[in-house]
Amino acid sequence: MTTNSQENKLIDKFGRRVDYVRLSVTDRCDFRCVYCMTEGMTFLPRDQVLSLEELFQVAQAFTELGVKKIRLTGGEPMVRTDVMSLIEQMGTLPGLEELLLTTNGAQLEKYATRLKAAGVNRINVSVDSLDAERFKRISRVGKLESVLEGIEAAREAGFDRIRLNAVIMRGYNDDEVLNLTNYAVEREIDIAFIEEMPLGITSHHDREETTCSNDWVRDVIEQKYELDSTISRTAGPSKYFQIAGKASRIGFISPVSHNFCEDCNRVRVTVEGRLLLCLGNEHSIDLRAILRDSFAGQTELKQAIIDSMELKPERHYFYDKEHPQPVRMMNMTGG
Ligand code: GTP
Ligand code: 5AD
Ligand code: SF4
Repeated sequence: MTTNSQENKLIDKFGRRVDYVRLSVTDRCDFRCVYCMTEGMTFLPRDQVLSLEELFQVAQAFTELGVKKIRLTGGEPMVRTDVMSLIEQMGTLPGLEELLLTTNGAQLEKYATRLKAAGVNRINVSVDSLDAERFKRISRVGKLESVLEGIEAAREAGFDRIRLNAVIMRGYNDDEVLNLTNYAVEREIDIAFIEEMPLGITSHHDREETTCSNDWVRDVIEQKYELDSTISRTAGPSKYFQIAGKASRIGFISPVSHNFCEDCNRVRVTVEGRLLLCLGNEHSIDLRAILRDSFAGQTELKQAIIDSMELKPERHYFYDKEHPQPVRMMNMTGG
């Protein structure tokens, strides 16, 4: 990756600068997490999904518009055939300062070294439980052991940072907050606690009853660990606290209890090539139509992205009955 002084052209009507894109590379996954998918999920036919070449064109257009950070998401990015060739190509994009990956970790043992060599700087790995039975209850099919092996492989590969993601749900894993924190602290990696968002109907549980507020999670952690009061806030949803005397940081992503939209710095591209301006709303434009239009090229693609900034909504309204809730499931956007 090389740096350049590409001027950022993506500013929305609320003055927010977009320099971060989350790119969903597949809607498929080898897990079926209860907060993300239904058990009998069906996936998109291939022709509706952006090809690897189209995904690269999108990434290139964004970096030419001044985007510095791209996170690959899914579904599970690593189940896409030949995804490594896309990642290796993206690692050479001029202007891209950070190439990031969010993964369920199941295939990290196989790919960690190659991911690091391709230029992936940081990875986030979802782990909601350290108990194999529980882990299966939440992921419906996942094997905890393969994820833990993946995390060890990632540590050996030497990424700049590794962060665990845990969605804490009452009745599923609310007694594991300290366990998960200890696990991260012992390995000198970070951990983020995430409040479950209502994206599509994925399971039988009533999310309003199971969602655990991060204020509660934080109280549990503070029974054992001292969190430094200096909050470091990267633009975006995570609020980070350093654990006193330890290498690990704790992140809180609290879309339900604390709205953080005013400094939103990101957009996402769904697996079908919809440029989605907000996770909690449906405002979008169709990049796939432009990519597949033989009369359009990168110039038209970039202009459409610039114009889309007008559509970025001010904020999301999760669980607010006055506002429509998204029916789209998380695996279309990867969060
Ligand atoms: P950074 O790239 O370091 O900001 O990481 P991240 O926390 O955004 O990435 P990750 O893919 O690990 O996502 C963790 C959680 O944050 C997921 O549940 C995402 O859905 C959620 N998240 C990420 N961006 C947004 C956002 O703009 N709005 C909301 N509501 N949630 C988000
Ligand atoms: N609410 C909050 N986080 C979710 N994730 C998936 N579905 C949801 C949801 N409904 C998280 C996963 C993964 C990240 C990309 O998004 O745990 O870590
Ligand atoms: Fe797969 Fe991630 Fe969704 Fe779980 S949250 S089903 S691991 S995409």
